[in-house]
Parts: sequence; C-alpha cells; structure tokens
Amino acid sequence: MSLEKLQSEVRRLLKEKNAILLAHNYQLPEIQDVADLTGDSLDLSVRAAKTDAEVIVFCGVRFMAETAAVLCPDKTVILPRLDAGCEMADMIDADALRARKASLPGVPVVTYVNSTAEVKAESDICCTSANAIKVVNSLTDADVVLMTPDQNLARYTQRHTGKKIIYWEGYCPIHEILSVEDVLKAKAEHPGALFLAHPECRPEVIDLADAVRSTTGMLAFVREAKAEEFVIGTEVGLLYPLQRQNPMKRFYPASDKMLCEHMKLTRLGDVIAALSGLKNVVHVPEEVRIRAKKAVDRMLAVPRD
Ligand code: 13P
Ligand code: SF4
Repeated sequence: MSLEKLQSEVRRLLKEKNAILLAHNYQLPEIQDVADLTGDSLDLSVRAAKTDAEVIVFCGVRFMAETAAVLCPDKTVILPRLDAGCEMADMIDADALRARKASLPGVPVVTYVNSTAEVKAESDICCTSANAIKVVNSLTDADVVLMTPDQNLARYTQRHTGKKIIYWEGYCPIHEILSVEDVLKAKAEHPGALFLAHPECRPEVIDLADAVRSTTGMLAFVREAKAEEFVIGTEVGLLYPLQRQNPMKRFYPASDKMLCEHMKLTRLGDVIAALSGLKNVVHVPEEVRIRAKKAVDRMLAVPRD
C-alpha cells in the first residue's frame, strides 16, 4: 500500500474508533504527518489528560503510553509497538528506589516522566525536560531533593535552583553519546549556527549551548530566533519538524549517532494493525496507577510559562 493510502486508512480508523493519535517529536515523519498532536512529553501528557476521545493511540515509547493510561483510566490506550521501550527508564526500578528513599528520610523524590508507572508511584512528583526547574522550585518545604533517573537533567536543574539535588545515576544513551568534540566539530563546520542542547546532554556539552530546551522548547526557540542556522543536540528525529516548520532555516545534527531505535519502531502498518483490532492496550495495575497519578497530577498543577 502507498504511504497516502496507509495514512488515509489510519485517519479512517481514528474516526471510526473515536480515537486520537499522539506522536512524540522524535517519531518517523510518516507518523508525525498523520498525528492529531505532536509534542514533547509535557505536551503529550497534558493532551492525554484532556482528551474526549475514547481511544488514545500513543506513538512514542512505553513510558509515554503508560503515563496516558495512568491519567485516563476510562480510556483505551494503545501502544502500536509494545517493544518500544526506553533505556533510561530501565535504569531504575521500584525496589531500588524504595531502598534509596529509606536512606534519605524526608527527602522528596522528583521523577522524570521517562520512567515506569511503578517508579512514578514511588515518587512525590514527576517532571519533564520542559518543567524540571519549575517542579523542583515548587517544592518550597524542601532544601534537598532526590531526582531520578536522569543524572544529566538533575545536574542541569542544579544550575537553576538553590536546593541541593541528589541524583540517580541513570542517563539517556542517545544524549550521553554526544561529546564536546562532536559539538566543536559541528560548530566549526557551521560557524554561523546556534547550538541547541537537550537537558539530557552531558554537563560539558550543556556548557557549549546557546540554549538548553526540551524538544518542543527547541521548536519554539527556533521559531522566534533571528538566526538562520542551528546545530541540534538531541535525537535526530527532531530535525523533521524543525525543517517542516521553518523551511527557510537550516538544521544540522550535532551528531548522526543520536538516533533512538525505540523511537523509530512504529510504522503506519503497526498503527493500523493495533487500532483496527484495539490491540496492544497498555494496562497499569489500579493500585500503582492511583499512586503514579498523584505524582503526575502534582506535576501538571505546576504552572507553565
Ligand atoms: P522531550 O520531548 O520531553 O524533550 O523528551 C525527550 C526524550 O528523550 C523523550 O524520550
Ligand atoms: Fe529513552 Fe533516550 Fe530514547 Fe528518549 S531518546 S526514549 S530518553 S532512550
């Protein structure tokens, strides 16, 4: 079947099933083009919490679909590829977090949404790369905070808060791979370009950035910037919406190695197969869901810009 026919079949099924398709900014172009909403983890969580649709098709990775299932127990949440995971989310589990909490009595836990529902359920509040600083600063009763699982997001947040941040030693392998040498090489090749880094990048890479943003934050920054060229320090999938939304500007990956295979698994055929049979439904046990929802809701209550 041609791409157009596959896309029109997805649209037909979405209507038939009263479904909405949410896609992360790193998804393949064929998926982004058919989505009702593309965005970063915060945009997608907010939209999932508000939708009237009966079915949510989540084109991203498992933790994102789980967050939607946590927020929307009365809806059917579909993850078209059940094998789309996140290496960073797998660097922590609920037992290990419970043990760490026992050694840090009274210290609130701020957990990045890139985590399982079980880990969220053990946390006081969630955050995304778009709101981590605001979330930490919202904890007015705490001088010390434990951030999990991304050490790079924690160390970036530490630069913007008076609180002491203790961190879990997880990381995103896709962002961790970006080195100072890669960035200097890209800057030398494109001397007029601004360098945008994701908070999941290493601190020495963050030091070189003209701006540090979530994926949707980068899209907003580029839209408003006078500059015409940008070196992009995040997963290469973001170059597609950047170029589509800014046809007159030029974008270069900071490194071609920044490719998350999990984010590239979902194809239109997977969406059609899952949606037509309402298969690959993501379930979160109710006892876990209720506790995880408290942490996500508390995050969503922190005012955005
Ligand atoms: P954001 O789109 O929220 O910046 O997240 C980046 C990421 O790594 C998601 O897996
Ligand atoms: Fe996880 Fe990194 Fe892939 Fe995002 S880019 S899904 S954080 S491994």
